[in-house]
Amino acid sequence: MDYDFDFIKATVQKFQKGKRYSHTLGVAKEAYELGKLFLPEKAKKLYLCGLLHDITKDFKTDKQLLLCKEYGILFDENNVIPKLLHSKTGCEYAKRLFGEEIVDNEIYNAIFYHTTARANMSLFEAIVYLADYIEEGRTFEDCVKLRNYFYENIKNSNSYEEKLGVFIKTMVLSFDYTIKNLIEEEKQIDYDTVCARNYFLTCKTI
Ligand SMILES: [Fe+2]
Repeated sequence: MDYDFDFIKATVQKFQKGKRYSHTLGVAKEAYELGKLFLPEKAKKLYLCGLLHDITKDFKTDKQLLLCKEYGILFDENNVIPKLLHSKTGCEYAKRLFGEEIVDNEIYNAIFYHTTARANMSLFEAIVYLADYIEEGRTFEDCVKLRNYFYENIKNSNSYEEKLGVFIKTMVLSFDYTIKNLIEEEKQIDYDTVCARNYFLTCKTI
């Protein structure tokens, strides 16, 4: 499918200013690069998903919660993790905005799980998740460490299988960093993230 990237970018830009939009472009580019390595036939679709993944990120928590109600997204009201809400609302918001021909199930799920990841996630979903973590505009120490780890090891890998092994290890490391930080900050850990770590720790391929 040919996407009208100019139109999509112009629309996304209405929701995002400055740094946020730069991050969006960074994720799209990173997802495209990872796509070229692991899922070349879907590289353009990954670029699109990168453009859309944070569409509701700048909405306030109140608005996120209202959208969850409107969309029938279930969550434990006593256990809201505000930072994660935009992934749960973003997929449905993007679908209503651009239509389900553009935001199909694959893109929908990749947006839905781009913050937490999940067990048994598809390679497409995992690429969007990792692209969000390591895009070139990220300067947070763990992001830089993870980006360097990934590309240093990719450089030394020859076969697709070896590269996929590096990808899987990088996913595990990302969860380690995230979970360690959440513990240090005395914050909740989303159940899907724990399950995702367990999954990637033992999976051989994706
Ligand atoms: Fe993001």
